[in-house]
Amino acid sequence: MSDALITAAHKGTQKSVRRATTLRIRDFIVLISCFAAVLLLLLVTGSIGVIEALAALIAAGAVAAAYYVGSATVLPPSAAADGVPANAAPGPSTASIPLKALPLPAFEIDLDERIVAFNAEAEDILRLDNRVRPRASTVIRSPSLLSAIDKAIHTQVDAPLAVEVDAGPNETWRAHVSRPVDTGRVLIVLEDLTPLRRAARARSDFIANASHELRTPLTALSGFIETMRGPAKDDKESWGRFLDIMAVESERMSRLISDLLSLSRIESSEQVAPRDQVDIQNIIVSGAAALEGFADERGIRLEVSGTSDPLLVIGNRDELIQVVENLISNAIKYCRKDGAVRVTYGFATDTVEARARAGQAWEGSERMTLLQSVNRPGPGEPAVWVRVEDEGPGIERQHLPRLGERFYRTDQSRGGKITGTGLGLAIVKHIMAHHRGGMAVETVMDKGSAFGVWLPAMRAKTDAA
Ligand SMILES: Nc1ncnc2c1ncn2[C@@H]1O[C@H](COP(=O)(O)OP(=O)(O)OP(=O)(O)O)[C@@H](O)[C@H]1O
Ligand SMILES: [Mg+2]
Repeated sequence: MSDALITAAHKGTQKSVRRATTLRIRDFIVLISCFAAVLLLLLVTGSIGVIEALAALIAAGAVAAAYYVGSATVLPPSAAADGVPANAAPGPSTASIPLKALPLPAFEIDLDERIVAFNAEAEDILRLDNRVRPRASTVIRSPSLLSAIDKAIHTQVDAPLAVEVDAGPNETWRAHVSRPVDTGRVLIVLEDLTPLRRAARARSDFIANASHELRTPLTALSGFIETMRGPAKDDKESWGRFLDIMAVESERMSRLISDLLSLSRIESSEQVAPRDQVDIQNIIVSGAAALEGFADERGIRLEVSGTSDPLLVIGNRDELIQVVENLISNAIKYCRKDGAVRVTYGFATDTVEARARAGQAWEGSERMTLLQSVNRPGPGEPAVWVRVEDEGPGIERQHLPRLGERFYRTDQSRGGKITGTGLGLAIVKHIMAHHRGGMAVETVMDKGSAFGVWLPAMRAKTDAA
């Protein structure tokens, strides 16, 4: 596309240069002829002498020559010999119109290796200045790109050369270097590969983590099977203990697999907005009831308080049940023995209030918004919020930004016992994003942690909580 445009522009330029030159020569001849005719008339009638006539002719010739030379300097830039005036600064000029049409950063280099044209995207990336025509080697650091440019300048390249450019840690670009026919310029188009590379790395990290997490219980299971078949074959008394551990490990494996399936289901439905009318109040009350037994087992009081009116949202019931259950089960799991877990919820007039209610209630706490809700433009949108507080050890500040990352566990880094898969909060975060909601955490060491979520409500209502 760009080659064709540049070639057409170049041919048009050559034509207009020829026409302008012809006009200048014609004007020069007409001017001199008029002067000569007037002088001849004056000479014949005896009004002036031969010497005066010759002097006047020389003066007229000088004026005509000055006009001829002067008219060359007022030619429009597009009429200059190579399409770029010799003293022109680079930038988005006439010659770079095709570059402007490119959605990617693009620039052109002349055969003296100077950058002579670029579009706005390239201007930002290469920090170019409209007033100077820098040498490519002063702006470009990548040896592979410089050598591709050199090759394109010194040998005609038919197809664009593609080179990868490392532009710093975790940043990769691909440069397409071509030499459009007849232009005397090299065209470089840059393509940002960073998002693709990042996605590929995230995918491979995820697979590595998931395989590692699955291998741990599997190794334990196969170890016990070996033991029961070999050294402990006749030690029937130990079998009961082994089978208990095996049951725990296989339960852990099946929980991991169901969490992974949940995550992948949520991710695949991310583009489809939830459509059902759901009552959050009902979900919280039934979710808490389902976890009552787990709380009792650990000697933990589970207190639920909030409005008894329905809290209607547009959402996916199964997903919102997972949010509530994950947050309450975490609170029970990490709460100190005999402590209390408090679940509160209610309406808020807008997301600012909802976030404050959900995650900014304790004085002097460390706070972090883990997911910012996407607000619709216009006046504040009413929201429903849920807050789950525990009396646990609290979470150290440096862990806060990473909560919600898949497989991230803080107790692991403290050398504690691994108690979960590290997928619960990632699931919560994904579900809240799917509901255009938000998520926050606040924590005070040795006092406890509180996780809060909020999402748009179906209708405005004053909080009765
Ligand atoms: N209420 C809490 N108090 C203290 N730490 C918490 C709390 N909730 C989560 N965490 C920390 O965040 C980490 C991630 O939580 P997440 O729910 O994602 O995983 P998990 O509970 O370990 O496993 P599961 O996937 O079974 O839920 C936990 O391992 C824990 O270290
Ligand atoms: Mg959890």
